[in-house]
Amino acid sequence: MLLPKTIKLPKVPPIKTQGIKTKLVPFIAQSIMWNGKGTYFEPFMGSGVVGFNLEPQKAIFSDTNPYLIQFYKDIQSGKITPLIIREYLEKEAIKLSQTPEDKTSYYYEVRERFNLYHSSLDFLFLQRSNFNGMIRFNNKGYYNVPFGRKPERFQKALITKIVNQAAWISSIMQGKDWQFICMSFPEAFKMMKKGDFVYLDPPYINRYDGYYDSWSQELADLLVALTENGDAGYAFSMWCQNEYRKNHHLDSWTKGKLLTTEHFYHLGGKSSNRNKMIEALIVSKGNINPLYDK
Ligand SMILES: C[S@@+](CC[C@H](N)C(=O)[O-])C[C@H]1O[C@@H](n2cnc3c(N)ncnc32)[C@H](O)[C@@H]1O
Repeated sequence: MLLPKTIKLPKVPPIKTQGIKTKLVPFIAQSIMWNGKGTYFEPFMGSGVVGFNLEPQKAIFSDTNPYLIQFYKDIQSGKITPLIIREYLEKEAIKLSQTPEDKTSYYYEVRERFNLYHSSLDFLFLQRSNFNGMIRFNNKGYYNVPFGRKPERFQKALITKIVNQAAWISSIMQGKDWQFICMSFPEAFKMMKKGDFVYLDPPYINRYDGYYDSWSQELADLLVALTENGDAGYAFSMWCQNEYRKNHHLDSWTKGKLLTTEHFYHLGGKSSNRNKMIEALIVSKGNINPLYDK
């Protein structure tokens, strides 16, 4: 039996992305029941934090962002190892700290190089020194996130943290049947069979994050139809409600059961601006932890 699973402190992968679900991992892992005999699918993998913490034996992780996928393929093939990452970051940290904090910053040199050669190491460097961990591309597919304005970003402790995160991923992949594929979600649905399980965390409607992350009402509706008429068990994550708004998209999900949990976030980092957010998880009927199925 793979799920439910108790995860108190989820681990964080080396590439962080906007909308990362680290805080929701314990809730997701507790809410689902699945025997783990089929394939686990995560067609909007982003950082992969959910699937990496669940550690299924057989999995297909996919996303339309080719660089996220390439990064994990490179770890899997051994093209990049924790040691290679350490040597690379130590070298680049010196160059970054020696350049001024303006537009000529070394960050922009790496960004230009990444847009030419798409190296996974440069992608990691950009994601860990950019503005707020954003991933954004313009309509030509060029990565265009600005610098996070901290030339001393890559201190020894941070490099060690990133290296350990990569080492964790590399170790959990051992002995597992995991594939990383760059594809849009309908392709992943074509591969699903009875006994499989899919965790879904699509982008939010009306929040455009650039070329690889465009989302629309049509795609959201297609996802509902493919999921509810498909053979695999599922869990679909989405924000449900905050103080000001309710997410009416959840009404289009008619078959599964809605589970909720709440968490707090701080606007602008001020503790006085503490806001409550209710997060939803819609789980297919046969895949709910009986403790939550009331
Ligand atoms: C909300 S994020 C997923 C976050 C992830 N669960 C995490 O915890 O890091 C949505 C992801 O969907 C990807 N995406 C956008 N459109 C897609 C599509 N049509 N098919 C597959 N992936 C898509 C984006 O590149 C992004 O990585």
